[in-house]
Formats: sequence, structure tokens, C-alpha cells
Amino acid sequence: MPMPVAVVISGRGSNMEAIARASLSAGSPYKIVRVIADRETAGGLARAAALGIPTSVVPVKQFADRASFDAALAAELEGSGAKLVALAGFMRILSSEFVQRFEGRLLNIHPSLLPLYKGLDTHARALAAGDSHHGASVHFVTAELDGGPVIMQGRLRIRPGDTPDSVSARVHTLEHIIYPHVCNLIASGRVEWRAGSVLFDGAPLAAPLIEESDAAA
Ligand code: GRF
Repeated sequence: MPMPVAVVISGRGSNMEAIARASLSAGSPYKIVRVIADRETAGGLARAAALGIPTSVVPVKQFADRASFDAALAAELEGSGAKLVALAGFMRILSSEFVQRFEGRLLNIHPSLLPLYKGLDTHARALAAGDSHHGASVHFVTAELDGGPVIMQGRLRIRPGDTPDSVSARVHTLEHIIYPHVCNLIASGRVEWRAGSVLFDGAPLAAPLIEESDAAA
């Protein structure tokens, strides 16, 4: 039976769509059982519906505080039957209670080569620093913002004349490769969370797996 996966979004949901489309291929070890947004206006809701995926909204504005929103989101996720939760452009910081409850089954994608550039404006920050490379990271979520163990990174070379927009477009292309890949690795049992660290094929993962795409490099 494919592993049931839920994807949580706030925006356009292009990563959600990449994860969902990859799961449609024959023999996929995972299946998207629900897409949840924290706002009605998330463009990804229509993308998910077009793919026949059940959607729900936990409208953040209707909750008085983070604890009550997180409790409602947790209930929705548990109700979906998901064994793995992929945050994909979800623009809320989750409480440590929530993160603990989903420990080892909660993923996020962040648009930088972590531990570089936690937080926002990552593309502009990488360009301003004059970095030669940039990219995206898929990591297990822990209580430290953008600080959990990284499973896989997509890496690309920054080109002369790159702008935050041009580099963001190439980072997105890589994100759409690495996020489904990580879902596959977890659902097939090759990547496991073990007491705060990552095992790959049964051995501790010393450094993130790297995807270096020629097309995006
Ligand atoms: C991605 O760049 C991801 O790294 C960040 O938010 C963006 C989401 O994009 N966390 P999309 O909604 O999947 O298109």
C-alpha cells in the first residue's frame, strides 16, 4: 500500500503539484491523500482539485492564537490518515508542540542551501553575498526554524546577471525534482528519521544528498 502523504500549503502550490504528479506514476510508493491550506486564496487548492485530490482549508484568520490553529491543523492531518506531512510553501511558524507531535514525519522545503539563509529573502541574500552556488533543501522539521536535519539539496550555479527572480525560477525547477524524490525515499523506507538524525539505507546520513541538475545549473 502506498504511504499516505498530506501536503500543507499557503500559496500557489507548485511543489505540491510536483509531489502529486510524481505520485501518479506506476508503482509510486506514496499517494497524496489531502492538500490543506491555511487560507481560501491559496492557488494550490485549485491545482489539487484539478488532480482529483481532496482539499481542506484551516483558515488561520479564524483562530485566536497559534496554539488553537496548530491544534486544528493537527486534527485535520490526523483525520486525513497521512503518515507523512510535506510543508510546501506554508507560511506559518508551527509551535514546538505541533512539531513534536509530528516528529519524524514532517518535512519542509526551503529555498537555500541550508544552513545558509534561514528565513526569508533567500535568493536576494545569496546574490548579495556573491555566492557561487545556491539552491533548495528538503529537511525534517524540528523546533528550530529551518534548522532540522537536511535530507537532500538541489544545487545550482549562480550566473552573471542573475536576479532574485531568475534564480528563483531555476531553484523552483530543482525543488520540483528533489521534493518528490525525498517523498519516494521516505515512503520506500530508504530514508528514515532516527532520534533526531537521518538514516539513508540504514546508515547515518553524514551530508545531504545532492541533486545537481545540468538543466538548472
Ligand atoms: C518554495 O520556493 C519553497 O522553497 C518555499 O516556498 C516556495 C513555495 O512555492 N518554502 P510553491 O507554492 O510550491 O510554488
